[in-house]
Amino acid sequence: MRKYELSKMINGQIETSGPVSFSSSNRRQFLAAAGIGLAYTAVSSRAAAEPASVLKVKDVVEHFLSRSPWLTRGQTVDRVIIGDPEKVVGRCMVTWMPSFHALRTMVEQGYDFLICHEPTFWDHWDKRPTDPAGLEKLEFIKKHDIVIVRNHDCWDRFPEIGIPSAWGQFLGLGKPAKIHDAFYHRYDIQPTSLEEFAGRMAARCGKIGEPMVQVTGNGKTRVSRIGIGTGCICDISVFREMGCDCSVVTDDGSTYWSVIQHAKDTGHPVIRVHHGVSEEPGMVTLTDYINANIPGLRAVHLPHGCTFRLVGPG
Ligand SMILES: [Fe+2]
Repeated sequence: MRKYELSKMINGQIETSGPVSFSSSNRRQFLAAAGIGLAYTAVSSRAAAEPASVLKVKDVVEHFLSRSPWLTRGQTVDRVIIGDPEKVVGRCMVTWMPSFHALRTMVEQGYDFLICHEPTFWDHWDKRPTDPAGLEKLEFIKKHDIVIVRNHDCWDRFPEIGIPSAWGQFLGLGKPAKIHDAFYHRYDIQPTSLEEFAGRMAARCGKIGEPMVQVTGNGKTRVSRIGIGTGCICDISVFREMGCDCSVVTDDGSTYWSVIQHAKDTGHPVIRVHHGVSEEPGMVTLTDYINANIPGLRAVHLPHGCTFRLVGPG
């Protein structure tokens, strides 16, 4: 198995077109570099000393559902999306989205199943596809007996290490000053210019594939109350109601012609990043949570990175 080259991540040269994985030592370095706190790693050795006799896919799903009292069973996308829930498992791959690349990587590297955050068939509820591209993906999954588990609604709200918390920690924002409805976090920082804060963000996001961020607003504006959301849940009006003076949004949760232009016209700074980049830190914490807390299951993270690459002149 090829080890992930940490230096590429640090230098913003993430390569997601080939099979990648973290070694445990590289993971520690990444987490340190990314500033992701690991309060739960203390249980790691204890969990490793208590191997489960037989672990099935359905047990892993139950592990998360039983720790997510905010969910209503039967009304969540967190389930076995496809494949045999009775399959006995020991190794899983964790990745943001089951792209065709991720599925091929999983097959090549022989993982028992895949845990993802976003949909397989480009639909939030993962309705079975009827279009040619969807049928091709479905056929590939069935041909290779792939099992896919979704962990979206659990991990979006998981305290302290779920999606928004991991994103905030990755950006080096410390602890949230305010949380609204679990999805919206406000971080209070030392006042700094919008330009400097955006530059700091870009330096960090470059480590996971997005070396430049989009910014609107006067770069000299002082900002100190930063709003970040949960993936595509990043309504600027909510951030403003929370007292934020700068909103960090994603490309799946905002539109230029409406909310962003409204913010620009009313003097509210906005920084925009790729949805996958904002949730990559959460995939790292999910991987480490599994390794520390589900005995008998070894998880490896496959970075998704930024779906887009930036191309300049010749
Ligand atoms: Fe998301």
